[in-house]
Amino acid sequence: MGRIDRLLAAMTLDEKIGQLNMAAGSRVVTGPGARRDVEEGIRSGRIGNLLNVWGGKEVHAVQHLAVEQSRLGIPLLIGLDVMHGHRTIFPVPLAEAGLFDPATWERTARIAAKEAGADGVALTFAPMVDVARDPRWGRMVESPGEDPWVAAEFAAAKIRGFQGRDLQEAASIAVTTKHLCGYGAVSAGREYASVDVSERTLHEVHLPPFATAVSAGTAAIMPAFIDIAGVPMTANAPLLQGWLRGMHAFDGVLISDYNAIAELCNHGVASDTAEAAALALRAGVDVDMASEAYVQGLPEALRRGLVGMAELDASVSRVLTLKERLGLFDDPYRRGAAGHTVSARRTATARQLARETARRAIVLLTHRHGVLPIAPGARHIAVVGPLASARHEMLGPWPSAGRADEAVSIVEGLQKALPNCRIDHLAGAGTAATKRSAISAAVESCRAAELAILCLGEDVSMSGEGGSRADLGLPDGQRTLAEAILELGKPVIVLLTSGRPLTVPWLFERADAVLATWFLGSEAGNAIADVLTGKFNPTGKLPVTWPRAVGQVPLFYGQRPSGRPAKPGERLSSCYLDIPATPQFAFGHGLSYASFTLAELRCTPAVARADESIKVTVAVHNHSAIAGEATLFLFVRDVVASVARPVLELKGARRIALEPGARGTLRWQLPVASLAFVGADLGLVLEPGRFEIHVGHSADPGELISCNLEVSS
Ligand code: NOJ
Repeated sequence: MGRIDRLLAAMTLDEKIGQLNMAAGSRVVTGPGARRDVEEGIRSGRIGNLLNVWGGKEVHAVQHLAVEQSRLGIPLLIGLDVMHGHRTIFPVPLAEAGLFDPATWERTARIAAKEAGADGVALTFAPMVDVARDPRWGRMVESPGEDPWVAAEFAAAKIRGFQGRDLQEAASIAVTTKHLCGYGAVSAGREYASVDVSERTLHEVHLPPFATAVSAGTAAIMPAFIDIAGVPMTANAPLLQGWLRGMHAFDGVLISDYNAIAELCNHGVASDTAEAAALALRAGVDVDMASEAYVQGLPEALRRGLVGMAELDASVSRVLTLKERLGLFDDPYRRGAAGHTVSARRTATARQLARETARRAIVLLTHRHGVLPIAPGARHIAVVGPLASARHEMLGPWPSAGRADEAVSIVEGLQKALPNCRIDHLAGAGTAATKRSAISAAVESCRAAELAILCLGEDVSMSGEGGSRADLGLPDGQRTLAEAILELGKPVIVLLTSGRPLTVPWLFERADAVLATWFLGSEAGNAIADVLTGKFNPTGKLPVTWPRAVGQVPLFYGQRPSGRPAKPGERLSSCYLDIPATPQFAFGHGLSYASFTLAELRCTPAVARADESIKVTVAVHNHSAIAGEATLFLFVRDVVASVARPVLELKGARRIALEPGARGTLRWQLPVASLAFVGADLGLVLEPGRFEIHVGHSADPGELISCNLEVSS
């Protein structure tokens, strides 16, 4: 008998249920009602897993209770939301996605895993790979954006980074890919609201990142809080048992979201805790995060015959297997041991990567009058706005163990980069509330300067979980401040801190340059200074379509064509009467200080069979006097199919760095089989016929060059 079978045979019912119970510690609070009697729960074997605890000392203290003082000595599994860094904070996922660079996505996760492992953490509730197409939803900030191909690549890279080569190592932590699935499609962008998407959209858009996560070896998966067409994901047997465990052979651990099992009663699908517990367990949910529904409901559910012992044992065995894979039985104190404390050298490497990643995530949205980069001889700059010196806000809504006192604010970054320039700083406005006198003082400081840098946008509380917004503009005080400064007629650069696109068309029209600076993490200020001073030529690209107005959302590039495609000015076409149907900025948009032209797009062979691969090449020319890097996107369109296909589908993104005046070639190898789609019967089909191949700097049709591919039967 192996260890797990021996343990199962020795366990009481309460101890088994304890292994399925994840209680909330209180170092951070990420949901309602953290428990107080955790210590006693661990000793008695009723708590087998903990979240929201970290720190070698803290973790080892609770681990000691489990290993030395509980009857069977089974170690605890310690989980934490390590989303985009642990102590060193990298850009939020939405920003990091804009690098379109899996190698970097993997590297940042690797460092996060090392730091979290050194702090005793064994499991992260990341990555979040919900496809997010509605910026009203606050959690867009945690997602890799609107595209399923990007989300899938992001999932695989993060899993490689967090889990490393061997889960046994202290520097590796288990991944919980979340939230399966459709959470990004909550009705009207409202947090926790019901989701009603078609089966086709589920299979084409929302499920593929999770299929990739399973192939990449994700240790765990978290079902979403929401219901899809009336079936809460926490109890969704067809998707969890059928699709995930059945079709995709996922044998890892399913961890509920925070309190989600108890909330099955609120959904109206269970009348009491026993029913809620039975629904979740039968759907394959192994671990109950923080709701106590398994502890309170499973004994009764067993008595009523709503679940069987075999189902319970299967879940316990999956949890114990994960603990074993993590090396917890061999050495429960491996993570968080003093020897693993992060060294100064390691920290310097992490900070360097944080700065590099942050500056590559910045998206230059608009740029006029050559206002950037800031002239080296600049003498006097005013930096105003509520986010200019806000270190804490740079860390974003999931800062893990990140510390505000270790973050670099925008003002600090600029001061360091421009030591001979006078930099005046006044907030002028709060992110939400503002005093008139504060605005006047800030305007005056700009009047006296050569250049104004406006630091506007959202603070961390305005996005993330529970951060849905119906209005995506700037709060009134910030708008008043910006308008007063724009009136001065000085050059104005705007830095937009936010977890989502903000609908500020007036600002894009009037400011000389606007940059999306998201929440860039510990090195935010230095990264921003690198871009503003031209030390780094911007390369960041939008992983989401940026709407002009809230009325356009959900807005994404992969729309179906419609029988009456949009024709500006033509009433009976798919348009609005009051605003253009086009976005403010297309998916993939992002300017550089250099300029590039594309030519000679070729697809070889031009006629190919399903079992072949095609080579796509494009010539790129940097026709400017500055070195730069271009990111190009490869889209396809299946022109005629049995089901209407999106006007563009992303199949690849590649970068090329070119010296001034230099030319280069970008290449993709694309298996023809990857052009298959979810057919009429929801199975994958590849239909012969003409496909358009498009390559460009963004999904803006005006920026694409195209050629054809014929798929033969
Ligand atoms: C609720 C969030 O939905 C989930 O993403 C997170 O992992 C848990 N809280 C734990 O903090």
